[in-house]
Amino acid sequence: MLNFGRTRSQPRSTRSMSFGGMDYADPKRKSNLIGKILLAAALTALCIIMLKQSPSFSTPSPFSLREEGVTHVLVTGGAGYIGSHAALRLLKDYYRVTIVDNLSRGNLGAVKVLQDLFPKPGRLQFIYADLGDAKSVNKIFSENKFDAVMHFAAVAYVGESTVYPLKYYHNITSNTLLVLESMAAHGVKTLIYSSTCATYGEPEKMPITEETQQVPINPYGKAKKMAEDIILDFSKNSDMAVMILRYFNVIGSDPDGRLGEAPRPELREQGRISGACFDAARGIISGLKVKGTDYKTSDGTCVRDYIDVTDLIDAHVKALQKAQFGKVGIYNVGTGKGRSVKEFVDACKKATGVDIKVDFLARRPGDYAEVYSDPTKIRRELNWTARYTDLQESLQVAWRWQKSHRDGYGTLSAMY
Ligand SMILES: NC(=O)c1ccc[n+]([C@@H]2O[C@H](COP(=O)([O-])OP(=O)(O)OC[C@H]3O[C@@H](n4cnc5c(N)ncnc54)[C@H](O)[C@@H]3O)[C@@H](O)[C@H]2O)c1
Repeated sequence: MLNFGRTRSQPRSTRSMSFGGMDYADPKRKSNLIGKILLAAALTALCIIMLKQSPSFSTPSPFSLREEGVTHVLVTGGAGYIGSHAALRLLKDYYRVTIVDNLSRGNLGAVKVLQDLFPKPGRLQFIYADLGDAKSVNKIFSENKFDAVMHFAAVAYVGESTVYPLKYYHNITSNTLLVLESMAAHGVKTLIYSSTCATYGEPEKMPITEETQQVPINPYGKAKKMAEDIILDFSKNSDMAVMILRYFNVIGSDPDGRLGEAPRPELREQGRISGACFDAARGIISGLKVKGTDYKTSDGTCVRDYIDVTDLIDAHVKALQKAQFGKVGIYNVGTGKGRSVKEFVDACKKATGVDIKVDFLARRPGDYAEVYSDPTKIRRELNWTARYTDLQESLQVAWRWQKSHRDGYGTLSAMY
């Protein structure tokens, strides 16, 4: 055992190291050792000073405190298409925002854009975490003081859900349960939940109201409906303020061109119609395949309700402002107007200025003829109405971003 003690009788210059009872005095090694000890002490002192000076040591993180007049919103899936637009709007409106995302589908580049726009401390933090990991979720809630949660994070492709149903039930239903449990455990009392018109399935009667029976026909829609049911059952005995928003088909992007829709290339196949249009306009795919021209619609192609992302986020902010403790609000978020696929493709051609090649093919199994919303309830109760209802304009805005971001958000996919 090393003995660094000095006996009173030993003069400094002859202090010795005792190895197993054998005294051995070596002045050169001794001064080396003292030097090392002094260096270690100095380094330790320096570390303590630096830690004390660092904001996270001396002052608690602003995200861990409730602050009068500041509403702190947890945006799950905030690196994704809709979540990043929501974070941008919340930050513009002076909310404090924490984004949690596992970047499985989202883009760190989108978070970077937001961080560059709102660099001040206490505005935005990004936490890389998987919402399927109960320990991480609980840790996030115990280390931060949220006032509300906007739960966007999800896998969200109907086609993919039929191939990997378990992934969908896990990622959507079970993760929502974990988020809800953590909210309850940590006293977070407002939830805005991203649901979908896919929970309605194929209703006979159009337009779809919130009273339309929900009979989802694919795992995506079923998983979202299950998540809704969990939330609704929980809220029966809780004072949580809940808003469930059922979106129709989301298009468009930030009118100021800061954010856009950039799905992973490997998900293109699963993709949504706007993505396919832009890919066709850029020559990434040879053209568009419109499946089904004999539906009972005005021009024979399917009819959908396309909602601009700016309007959709506005509905979230209104829902957040109007959420009441102990109450649940369920709202369709759509324009109330159905547009045919043919109309959409024509608008896309005009928006991009590219004469996209279109092949008209036979119907795809599982597609339904018409889906559009009745937005009366959200207009009446939340004073919300869609304003960006010109398809061509919405697509033009999105196309501008697509053209200037040929690689989406680029290769920035690792943590920095
Ligand atoms: N895009 C639409 O047309 C549409 C329509 C109806 C409903 N929705 C719903 O809106 C929400 C957002 O959709 P989007 O189009 O922005 O999708 P998106 O894929 O662009 O974004 C989802 C984000 O969630 C993240 N995420 C997924 N699983 C996660 C996990 N386990 N832990 C942490 N983060 C995770 C992804 O990395 C991604 O950033 C989804 O809940 C979706 O079901 C979208």
